[in-house]
Amino acid sequence: MGRIEWTEGLGVGIPTIDAQHKVLVDLINRLGEAAEAGKTKAEIGPILLELDDYTRRHFALEEEAFERFGYPDAKSHIAEHAAFVAKVDSFQLAYAVGKAQIGEDILVFLRTWLTRHITFTDKKYRPFLAGKI
Ligand SMILES: [Fe+2]
Ligand SMILES: [Fe+2]
Repeated sequence: MGRIEWTEGLGVGIPTIDAQHKVLVDLINRLGEAAEAGKTKAEIGPILLELDDYTRRHFALEEEAFERFGYPDAKSHIAEHAAFVAKVDSFQLAYAVGKAQIGEDILVFLRTWLTRHITFTDKKYRPFLAGKI
């Protein structure tokens, strides 16, 4: 089973943001490990909820900075966040009521989305936000 390995290549160069991205990477890896180890819903459910909650808090921090400093690419960036939150929310709800399992499909989606979003979308704000947040 795969996992996300944190490398310098995932750094956007803004310490607050990198620290939060590392938490998200860790939560996705913990979710994968728990699923692989055959953990129960009582153990997996809280990790999923924490991922959902922390993702919202992280996106809120980025979006508040966009607003405060007038980031020109905010609209499309926020749309990517909204689509991800909708997906994680619906999966979390389906999991909570026993209509979804943590399988490779959702894990691959989470890993791919996060690494691509950091690499291709978050990195674009670096020159704009570095030193401001
Ligand atoms: Fe981010
Ligand atoms: Fe973002």
